[in-house]
Amino acid sequence: MSGLIPQHFINDLVSRVDIVDVLSKRIDLKKAGKEFKAVCPFHNDKNPSLTISPSKGFYHCFSCGAHGTALGFLMEYEHLSFVEAIESLASDLGLEVPYEKSSKPIKQNNDLFSMMEKLQKKFQDNLKDELKAIKYLKERGIDGRTAKKFGIGYAKKGWRNILDEFGKNEKKINLLTSLGLIIKKSDDNYYDRFRDRIIFPIRDARGRFIGFGGRVFNDEQPKYLNSPETSLFHKGKELYGLYECQQSMRDIDRLVVVEGYMDVIGLSQNGVEYAVASMGTATTNDHFNRLFRLTDSIFFCFDGDDAGLKAAWRALENSLIHLRDGRQIKFVFLPDGEDPDSYIKNNGTSKFEEQLDSGKDLSDFLIDKISENIDLKSIDGKARLAERAKPLISKIPDGIFKELIIEKLSISVNISSKKLTALISKVNRKESMRPKTRSFTKMMSHKSSKAQPSIIKKSIMLILNYPEAAKSIKTHDFKDYKKPGIKILLKLIKTTQEEANINAASLIERWRDDDEGRHLAKLAINLFPDNPEFDASKELNDSLVQITKNFYSERINFLIEKQSKNELSEKDKNELSRMIIRNKSL
Ligand code: UTP
Ligand code: MN
Repeated sequence: MSGLIPQHFINDLVSRVDIVDVLSKRIDLKKAGKEFKAVCPFHNDKNPSLTISPSKGFYHCFSCGAHGTALGFLMEYEHLSFVEAIESLASDLGLEVPYEKSSKPIKQNNDLFSMMEKLQKKFQDNLKDELKAIKYLKERGIDGRTAKKFGIGYAKKGWRNILDEFGKNEKKINLLTSLGLIIKKSDDNYYDRFRDRIIFPIRDARGRFIGFGGRVFNDEQPKYLNSPETSLFHKGKELYGLYECQQSMRDIDRLVVVEGYMDVIGLSQNGVEYAVASMGTATTNDHFNRLFRLTDSIFFCFDGDDAGLKAAWRALENSLIHLRDGRQIKFVFLPDGEDPDSYIKNNGTSKFEEQLDSGKDLSDFLIDKISENIDLKSIDGKARLAERAKPLISKIPDGIFKELIIEKLSISVNISSKKLTALISKVNRKESMRPKTRSFTKMMSHKSSKAQPSIIKKSIMLILNYPEAAKSIKTHDFKDYKKPGIKILLKLIKTTQEEANINAASLIERWRDDDEGRHLAKLAINLFPDNPEFDASKELNDSLVQITKNFYSERINFLIEKQSKNELSEKDKNELSRMIIRNKSL
């Protein structure tokens, strides 16, 4: 299984597959009008909160918020990767997945990947000739085997080593720039980003090199320089060491999340091969999804300092929506001044693993933290604790875990867990009812309301829910409008107009990896009134005209502003009069 799956195959598969078919093989569905209902498998529930829309090819749980297409369901329910889920759906339909060696849009990325591979090899080769770097790694206890496992390298001293060797023509210079390996100073003037640093290559889950971290030898700042965000490297999505970990271990029972490159490497050197690093950033939802796809047991082991403690708390906050029965998260607090790398070096592997085993359960960490500076004996203190707990607990999906934590908390504040549940679910209901009870039109009419979706968002939602409405679009003219969502809106319009019988699922899956399109799934939940008078096509046309008007008037205001400062060029003048005429004709 190698190569790429052509996009047209994925599109076709997603629009052909029957979501009811896929889900009913795995969970019990009951018909309810045009839709189906089921008990949601993603949180502990007795009520049928999961709604499945066969026409949209989409499911949504009104209790825990889980949502997606048949493809997404398989990935989540059976812990499959994207490709595995495609394979599974295709085999259900008796289709063979065609893999192609290369295709045009991906080819660009291929150039980037192959350049990254060459650069990594170069850095790794440099290391052999640099005694200083070898000595440094030795002193930190890293042997040749570990250095090789992680592909560690060295970036030479000097401003144009990479530039001169790999940037021989304009195309290559552009490649290097977009990879962040060289930096543009002025026209035709570039310099190397990484100079005289130990290089830690960062691989994606498939083992391809996507970025580098470079460490200084001394106390200079910054200690680490990293690749910037590029089309290959998204810090908030990647975990350093994940590929290496999957290569070394067959079954991953647990994963330890640490902060630094050196923690992953130091742990591996000492036989703990199941560590990954968040590279100093917060642990994101993407991280959690990735981690929980591999294991049910996650340990956070950050540096034993204030920053480490703060990072642990943020990880806890972000983990709450991912908690399910059977999943376990523990927090390990090392003595102040130690990080996992130094701890295992000073105390040995078994002491480190003891630390993991005696880590704090998420529930205890949560309760300890919110009890800080509160006198639990006083009534006032109890009330404050409950108050602090509310927003956190309301994020946890219903289930045994949530019950357990409420139970523990109720013991701390010494009120019955029933009372506490009532208190907390009050908040819950308020929050989760909002999108259900307020219709879209109502939301739109409250102009000042924070919950009001933008007109751009509304248009996207309309297309996802009523793709056929896009076929009757009359005018829109905002392709130069620089606003979030515009690009994906234009893509949606184009696709729905060009392709017949397209549904929400197929639209969502198409832009799974697209920065702008990643959030489409969230917008496919229908909030529009379900009555025959609702005219999606009119709503959509009106919205697009509104966006166009907004665009014109913002542009006109901008140009008039310029005019008042006497900065209007000939070109601007033409644009202004054109805009005014067009705006009037709308
Ligand atoms: P640490 O300073 O704890 O790094 O920062 P470390 O890996 O333990 O480094 P050593 O042991 O001193 O060599 C944790 C992580 O935060 C990011 C890096 O990903 C680092 O591994 N970081 C830190 C930066 O990106 N830039 C910095 O200047 C510092
Ligand atoms: Mn550290």
